[in-house]
Amino acid sequence: MTNLAIAANGLRKSYGDKLVLDGIDLAVPAGTVFSLLGPNGAGKTTAVKILSTLLGADPGTGAIHVNGHDLAADPQAVRASIGVTGQFSAVDGLITGEENMLLMADLHHLSRREGRRVAGELLERFDLVEAAKKPAASYSGGMKRRLDIAMTLVGDPRVIFLDEPTTGLDPRSRHNMWQIIRELVTGGVTVFLTTQYLEEADQLADRIAVLNDGRIAAEGTAEELKRLIPGGHVRLRFTDPAAYRSAALALHEVTRDDEALALQVPSDGSQRELRAVLDRLEAAGIEADELTVHTPDLDDVFFALTGPSTTVTDQPKENVR
Ligand SMILES: Nc1ncnc2c1ncn2[C@@H]1O[C@H](COP(=O)(O)OP(=O)(O)O)[C@@H](O)[C@H]1O
Ligand SMILES: [Mg+2]
Repeated sequence: MTNLAIAANGLRKSYGDKLVLDGIDLAVPAGTVFSLLGPNGAGKTTAVKILSTLLGADPGTGAIHVNGHDLAADPQAVRASIGVTGQFSAVDGLITGEENMLLMADLHHLSRREGRRVAGELLERFDLVEAAKKPAASYSGGMKRRLDIAMTLVGDPRVIFLDEPTTGLDPRSRHNMWQIIRELVTGGVTVFLTTQYLEEADQLADRIAVLNDGRIAAEGTAEELKRLIPGGHVRLRFTDPAAYRSAALALHEVTRDDEALALQVPSDGSQRELRAVLDRLEAAGIEADELTVHTPDLDDVFFALTGPSTTVTDQPKENVR
């Protein structure tokens, strides 16, 4: 059995008569990045709050385990083993970055000496040493997020919930944050990441779940999700009409474009399928002048799965890779 950092069965939550989570299942292996992807209002923050004990699930919810602790029976043990960086910052702007860190150390009952050591190490690790003595209100958005994560790490959590950690950040700060997240995982931490950015999930997540209409509309690796959407193909272009005709004969299931001397072969874009095409061309002694792989990207998946009606039949837009 895999070692699961988070396991939830039939997680349900309504606010009044508004159903937000309609029985979702989650299984996050330890040491991986899991991304809960969904549009605004999908229920991402609600899920984070429940899994991190800040909010109760509805009756009828199945068992939830975080770091092996039963969330209903032992919320205290769950709380002690996790870190949460909320969608809205926990940083107190009126005090300095260092004071924010020392406050966290106090909350975790570290001794003064140990608190200073941990705070100093984390400020250094997140490139905040120079800013440490300045009021946090003067920090840039990226610095505040870094301080927020540094504060989360004071308790040495095994699972970290990051709720939209890069929303509103400029591209450079976003890439910095991605690097920080990768380093956390290298250090053995499990990251539960919510995001509205498909590229972010694509970059970071081992597995992605798309939340829509209270349910997980699709779950898998980025590659698996992309394959759910039809339309991937390899396009081969030729300048020599004879080579074009031979290739059309050598390959199966091609769509011909006689005018452009181009052939389209359906393909999931995987290495295996690509190699099969190349092998057939090679065997026939033909060389294409141009080869492009067109794979649907996560945007296509997202738009196909979320929104008013859930249809996977929409034609994906083309993405030349
Ligand atoms: N405390 C609350 N009371 C009533 N409705 C809420 C409350 N919190 C969130 N909601 C509603 O629940 C839905 C999911 O919210 P949320 O979990 O914040 O979504 P997300 O984080 O994916 O944007 C939204 O429609 C939101 O308006
Ligand atoms: Mg949210």
